[in-house]
Amino acid sequence: MLNKDYIYFDNGATTFKPKKVVDKQVSYYTEYTANAHRGDYDLSHKVDMEYEGTREVVRRFINARSKDEIIFTSGTTESMNMIVFSFMKYYLQMGDEVLITKTEHASNVLPWFELEKEIGIKVNFIPLDEDKKVTLDNLKSVVSEKTKVVSIAGITNVIGDIRPITEISKYIHSLDILLVIDGAQSVPHIKTDVIKDNVDFLAFSGHKMLGPTGVGVLYAKKKYLELMKPFKYGGGMNNYFESNKEVEYKCIPLRFEAGTQNIAGVLGLKEAILYLENIGMDKIHEYEKDLRNYLIEKMRDIPNITIYNENSESGIVVFNINKIFAEDASKYLNHYHICVRAGNHCSKMVKDEIEVKNTCRISLYLYNIKEEIDKLIEVLKNSKNIYDIIL
Ligand code: ALA
Repeated sequence: MLNKDYIYFDNGATTFKPKKVVDKQVSYYTEYTANAHRGDYDLSHKVDMEYEGTREVVRRFINARSKDEIIFTSGTTESMNMIVFSFMKYYLQMGDEVLITKTEHASNVLPWFELEKEIGIKVNFIPLDEDKKVTLDNLKSVVSEKTKVVSIAGITNVIGDIRPITEISKYIHSLDILLVIDGAQSVPHIKTDVIKDNVDFLAFSGHKMLGPTGVGVLYAKKKYLELMKPFKYGGGMNNYFESNKEVEYKCIPLRFEAGTQNIAGVLGLKEAILYLENIGMDKIHEYEKDLRNYLIEKMRDIPNITIYNENSESGIVVFNINKIFAEDASKYLNHYHICVRAGNHCSKMVKDEIEVKNTCRISLYLYNIKEEIDKLIEVLKNSKNIYDIIL
């Protein structure tokens, strides 16, 4: 993809794949196709080894205590739904409060709204500061004795603020409140350490971190996974079942991986993680920060641009060309093969915070370069005749 004529600034939506990630999946399909955890022959054994090897690589990557705490899912959305409907539905009681923010992605909002309808919990919002960030003081202002869970993104997908997870975690755990992290936008970009941050549940996707689509991870502390109900029932997750309805399920993590998994995706995810580890997450973050600063500095010089998240820390920059509908601006950029996302970015409550419904979003990643930013700036500077170009 890097050899094609695109300037790709939509990495929050999905990312390009290194050749090693693609090759790994192709070789699984062409050289050693077999199911995992089912065969007693060498081919299947090799798949088992690689599949379980990936679990260990994921464990190391997020610094979990045990590889049993790593569940493969189809992505962040499925992981969040598992947390809410297989654990929280039974852990929480009517009247318990869950705190989220209005800048969360739909995956960290709608499952909670549904649970509110189903069992009568109350979803409340943490107020944000003038930069639309969560601060410890703002969080403290809404925590009550009924608060049982704080569920927030590590980095939000529109504002792009990096949440102070370590200090939030310390404070809420002193009150026995659980911490759920939507890591879709943070795990690909900054070092994740679930032990250091004492994270109870974490969800993330492979495709936003150079990996394949359709594969993701649910991490949860072992003590919670032991209490969690299976999200799906079927083959691969049970030890036996009898006609008298007696059933025994497998131990974690396989209890949560019913049906044939996205094996090629899991193997590809391993290659993506090795690729990121080889560069180093701290280096990736520093590089993205440098790109972001460069971009913001140049955008500030363009008079008809409004930036909505100047003081955020990640590679996400949201803006509008003044008086131009965001989708039109995106179509204009597309004319120059510049890919940005426009709209509400699946975070439909952000409008309550920034008072604008639709924005253009640039989301940078490790393969973006300053020359691409220069081209974007040049195109934005010449945006007077936008409707001549897109109509
Ligand atoms: N959640 C992805 C995004 O923010 C699709 O673009």
